[in-house]
Amino acid sequence: MSAVLFTCAGQRVDIVTAFGRAGAETVAADLNPLAPALYAADRHFLAPRIDDPGYVHALAEAVSRYGVELLVPLTDLDLTILAEHRGELGALVLLPGPEVAERTNDKYETHLFLQERGIGSPAAWLPEEAPSNLSFPVLVKARRGFGSRNIFRAENREELDFYLERTPADSFVQEVCPGEEFSMDVFCDLEGRCLNSIPRTMIESKGGESIKGMTIADDELVALGRDVSEAIGVVGPATVQCFRASPGDCRVTDVNLRFGGAFPLPLAAGSDYPALAMALARGEQPEPRVGEFRAGVVMTRFFSETFLVRGEDGVLTRLSQ
Ligand SMILES: Nc1ncnc2c1ncn2[C@@H]1O[C@H](COP(=O)(O)OP(=O)(O)O)[C@@H](O)[C@H]1O
Ligand SMILES: [Mg+2]
Repeated sequence: MSAVLFTCAGQRVDIVTAFGRAGAETVAADLNPLAPALYAADRHFLAPRIDDPGYVHALAEAVSRYGVELLVPLTDLDLTILAEHRGELGALVLLPGPEVAERTNDKYETHLFLQERGIGSPAAWLPEEAPSNLSFPVLVKARRGFGSRNIFRAENREELDFYLERTPADSFVQEVCPGEEFSMDVFCDLEGRCLNSIPRTMIESKGGESIKGMTIADDELVALGRDVSEAIGVVGPATVQCFRASPGDCRVTDVNLRFGGAFPLPLAAGSDYPALAMALARGEQPEPRVGEFRAGVVMTRFFSETFLVRGEDGVLTRLSQ
């Protein structure tokens, strides 16, 4: 059995559990002893803060202690640091190089990159470059935003100036996309070849997380997920988000280099992404199966919980019931 280490495990009980079911020995790390995913793993430990100079060393130690072969980051927070220090970690880090992490962390950079390659992306300007004849509405959007934070809709020039002045984040201006929003959960091998691309609808989202959605057999979206991930240089999982104004006119708004918030949906549709990730760690080269998944699978989510008790040593463990 091979061990898989999840960093910034947080609430991703779904991902840790899925790897366990796929045969991995799971090891979860988080800063917060109340992160629920810690207690869904076979083993867990408390990691230092990401900006602590000992962060990478603490992970490398856990890699050798638990015989970890694959390291999977579960948030955007430590992608760049892990991509930069992959050589010191002693396990396969399921990420592309730091330049790819940078290209997707900054949404304005992502826009420039896609535009240069002829891939649809909403019109975007730096604050000082927004033209005087801008058509409204537009969004003032954080360049390094996440979880739908720091996105403000301006209906006219006055509101645009207001939000640009007040937003706490380094921001850019983006056209509001017409049409319906979709996400593609993709997975690429170590050479950046897309192994699958599974589109889903976004029936309902809360705080940037998709809580209701459905997989769809849509050739245009399957191909867009594949083309964007291969152009950007994705290795491992990513989520590609877009709006479709009309057939043939898709605009990509966001690319995240990790398993998406809606991870259980493509899994239920047959993605097999945990097994693919472990196959890469064993040095295998799985064949692409782009477009092979079950369409029409609907996900509807709910809250769940784990109960903990403090032992005599002061350490929290699961309450057995
Ligand atoms: N250009 C746009 N037009 C319309 N809605 C948008 C646009 N950009 C973002 N949104 C909405 O805001 C949400 C969050 O934006 P996104 O770019 O995905 O940033 P993040 O997920 O990193 O916070 C999207 O899921 C979408 O619903
Ligand atoms: Mg997003």
